[in-house]
Amino acid sequence: MVELKKSVILSSLIVSCTAATQYASNVRAPSYPLAVRQPYVSTWLPHDSLSGNWPTFWSGTVKGWEGLIRVDGKTYEWMGAASTGSEVNITNVAKQNAITTTPTQTVFSLTAGPVNVNVTFLSPVEYKDIKRQSIPLSYMFVTAEPSDGKSHSVQIYSDITAEWATSDTSQQVVWNVTSSNGIRTWSTSLKDQYPFGEVSDYPTWGQATYTTSNNATYASGADVDVRSAFVKNGKLNNTNDSNFRCASCSWPTFGFAHDLGNIKAASDPIQFVVGHLREQNVQILNQSTNALWTEYWSDANSMIEFFYKDVSTAQSNANKLDAKILKEAYKAEGQPYADILSLSLRQAFAGTEFAGNSTSPTLYMKEISSDGNMQTVDMLFPSSPVFYYLNADYLKYLMDPLFYQMENGYWSKPFSIHDIGSHYPNASGHADGNEEDMPIEESADMIFMVANYIFNPATAAADAKAYAQKHYKILSSWAEYLYNNCLYPTNQLTTDDFIGQTQLNSGLALKGILSMKAFSEIAHLVGNNNETKFYTNASASYIKTWITESQSADKSHLKLEYNVTDGYELKYNAFQDKLLKLNLVPSDIYTEEANYYLSKMDTYGMPFVSTHNYTKTDWETWTAAAFGDANPTLRTKIVKGLSNYLADTPTRVPFSDWYNTTSAAGEGFLARPAVGGHFAILALNTPAKH
Ligand SMILES: *[C@@H]1O[C@H](CO)[C@@H](O)[C@H](O)[C@H]1NC(C)=O
Ligand SMILES: *[C@@H]1O[C@H](CO)[C@@H](O)[C@H](O)[C@H]1NC(C)=O
Ligand SMILES: *[C@@H]1O[C@H](CO)[C@@H](O)[C@H](O)[C@H]1NC(C)=O
Ligand SMILES: *[C@@H]1O[C@H](CO)[C@@H](O)[C@H](O)[C@H]1NC(C)=O
Ligand SMILES: *[C@@H]1O[C@H](CO)[C@@H](O)[C@H](O)[C@H]1NC(C)=O
Ligand SMILES: *[C@@H]1O[C@H](CO)[C@@H](O)[C@H](O)[C@H]1NC(C)=O
Ligand SMILES: *[C@@H]1O[C@H](CO)[C@@H](O)[C@H](O)[C@H]1NC(C)=O
Ligand SMILES: *[C@@H]1O[C@H](CO)[C@@H](O)[C@H](O)[C@H]1NC(C)=O
Ligand SMILES: *[C@@H]1O[C@H](CO)[C@@H](O)[C@H](O)[C@H]1NC(C)=O
Ligand SMILES: *[C@@H]1O[C@H](CO)[C@@H](O)[C@H](O)[C@H]1NC(C)=O
Ligand SMILES: *[C@@H]1O[C@H](CO)[C@@H](O)[C@H](O)[C@H]1NC(C)=O
Ligand SMILES: *[C@@H]1O[C@H](CO)[C@@H](O)[C@H](O)[C@H]1NC(C)=O
Repeated sequence: MVELKKSVILSSLIVSCTAATQYASNVRAPSYPLAVRQPYVSTWLPHDSLSGNWPTFWSGTVKGWEGLIRVDGKTYEWMGAASTGSEVNITNVAKQNAITTTPTQTVFSLTAGPVNVNVTFLSPVEYKDIKRQSIPLSYMFVTAEPSDGKSHSVQIYSDITAEWATSDTSQQVVWNVTSSNGIRTWSTSLKDQYPFGEVSDYPTWGQATYTTSNNATYASGADVDVRSAFVKNGKLNNTNDSNFRCASCSWPTFGFAHDLGNIKAASDPIQFVVGHLREQNVQILNQSTNALWTEYWSDANSMIEFFYKDVSTAQSNANKLDAKILKEAYKAEGQPYADILSLSLRQAFAGTEFAGNSTSPTLYMKEISSDGNMQTVDMLFPSSPVFYYLNADYLKYLMDPLFYQMENGYWSKPFSIHDIGSHYPNASGHADGNEEDMPIEESADMIFMVANYIFNPATAAADAKAYAQKHYKILSSWAEYLYNNCLYPTNQLTTDDFIGQTQLNSGLALKGILSMKAFSEIAHLVGNNNETKFYTNASASYIKTWITESQSADKSHLKLEYNVTDGYELKYNAFQDKLLKLNLVPSDIYTEEANYYLSKMDTYGMPFVSTHNYTKTDWETWTAAAFGDANPTLRTKIVKGLSNYLADTPTRVPFSDWYNTTSAAGEGFLARPAVGGHFAILALNTPAKH
């Protein structure tokens, strides 16, 4: 009876919470997403407190973004670190009480004397709507609420600095302020624009913008002057500094101040919109290509205005998506999984941006932090579960640029290309064949992703068939390559290139064999009976040989390299056996392997390969999904280990997908879209149909 009462009380508590906050994460994040939407709109807080610290670009470069509140004439800092400098007279730093993270939002609650300040950062993930998803902007909302029931005079201030225009602050910047239809926008950019270039991974063209309603006062000027004016007067003098200079020359700063007057209860949210935009965003085979948003809006200001005023739709979509993901994650693996996904969604989508037009949209992905390659096949693939789960069309938008180059004479090798550009955003291709070859890896990845798109339950039958037919020829050539090469893989790289080349790699062979079976399903769809039969039979025969070659002498596990290295490596590719319902790997092998993995669990999860004490978060989750049926305890332990890593890692960077399982330290790799792979368990809720 006591038990029963407790659960009744608990469930009534849960009902009283809003949908969006139920199962929201309170775990300490290595870095909190603030404005995280695209490869160049990626500003984070790699600290515990919003007040007293500078936000940074994913790479660690400071992006000056300040927030102040004046309560009865006394100023408190709620964001940024102007208070750490001596020139501005800000001595009060708001005390932070809590941070709540959901898949699309990060909410900070702070106390500024007698007033509570809540700051919400919302980076929409508009997975159903490419028009809205193409917008390179993000929201910030600030509310103030007296905590003592008394009336207080309140003003709220925020600015960005010209650090948003460039990561090389010795460069000259320009700016202006425009106002129309109720909003005002600061815009700042490099004086000399270098299209399609980067400095420290930040773009050398385009403009940063900061917008709020036009009843705010505004000013540009030296950081110290603009902020001091607010501290002193609680407002700005609507002036525009006309002295263009370098970004670190008296730090050009662009501020807004809102006067809330005397408030006794919670204020309406004060809204800001921040971002960085380029009208032409990528270069394909030396051709400048328009950002997709330019198709819907004639200029930057009308796009900004749409986004600014779209706020209720944006919030409602975000709350719905948060609720869906958190609920499903909690149901699958409890709060640890909800925590992981709360820090994965924005990062996964922010590895991409749309270009092209609405009839032929293309989505480009940057291999952030590992080498900046463009459209890396083995980066699309680990991230693919989030797209499979939310909208499989995204897989098509991502693959189209790869197919374009490989089907039109810009690639001649018998296996799939690795990427279409050595550095984002320049897809200059590898027509000379000079690239980081991963022959079996990339060919199999492409076949799997096509199968993930066409057999996704949400893909229309006609679209699926048309896509399979359109690319059948090249897919068939890769299947043939795999038939000839995947059973006994020669010395080569897999996606895990940091462990170096391996030979007779059992995981790579499995990947090839499974993709041959996936290809037989594609052949079936297009009505090629011979190849359907050929690859069904070939994969069935190969899998038997593969088991014989891979199994350890004591039949306790599958080896890393057939007869070369015993050890083990997570057979994460088995996830595709489950997702595509290929049913090629026998269930006793799943059981044997899952039990073995369980014996390899370290403090923070499971090393993905026996030769090193580190792991990959994407491959852990793929493994949890694939082997979860065979051993639910394994799945739970992997998810728990991964969430513990997130909470404990001493490496304060955006979610690193490569870490030490003993110490939780990051090994490199940050902010990568690979974290889309964390959705593998949810993707399996709707396996492919064929
Ligand atoms: C800083 O503020 C304090 C208290 O408001 C004031 O006494 C002092 O004169 C100010 N200093 C400057 C440099 O404005
Ligand atoms: C404002 O400046 C930005 C670059 O900083 C430029 O792209 C835009 O055209 C300017 N707008 C006006 C109205 O001058
Ligand atoms: C306006 O404020 C700026 C700093 O924010 C200051 O440099 C400038 O002198 C002020 N102008 C007037 C007219 O007060
Ligand atoms: C702001 O100042 C710059 C530099 O003098 C100028 O080009 C721009 O037109 C000004 N904008 C406004 C709205 O005053
Ligand atoms: C400023 O304008 C916005 C929208 O135009 C409104 O919601 C807000 O209440 C206004 N703020 C003040 C202080 O008047
Ligand atoms: C601010 O956040 C706190 C803690 O999450 C919450 O209790 C409070 O209702 C929020 N206040 C407003 C005005 O949103
Ligand atoms: C792109 O430009 C480079 C340098 O001018 C040239 O070498 C290359 O052939 C061009 N590529 C294409 C596809 O036109
Ligand atoms: C859209 O883009 C595709 C691919 O670049 C191009 O073939 C097509 O002509 C474009 N359509 C329009 C309406 O511009
Ligand atoms: C059937 O398909 C396989 C694999 O593509 C090919 O090697 C073989 O020649 C085909 N046989 C016939 C009769 O077309
Ligand atoms: C391992 O197997 C391969 C392929 O069957 C064979 O060529 C090689 O000689 C074997 N190596 C050893 C050390 O047994
Ligand atoms: C992994 O860590 C454990 C415990 O710290 C140690 O015993 C083992 O040798 C390490 N393995 C590797 C491959 O470094
Ligand atoms: C992992 O951390 C442990 C403990 O600090 C250390 O001994 C080991 O060398 C690290 N391993 C790797 C692969 O970084």
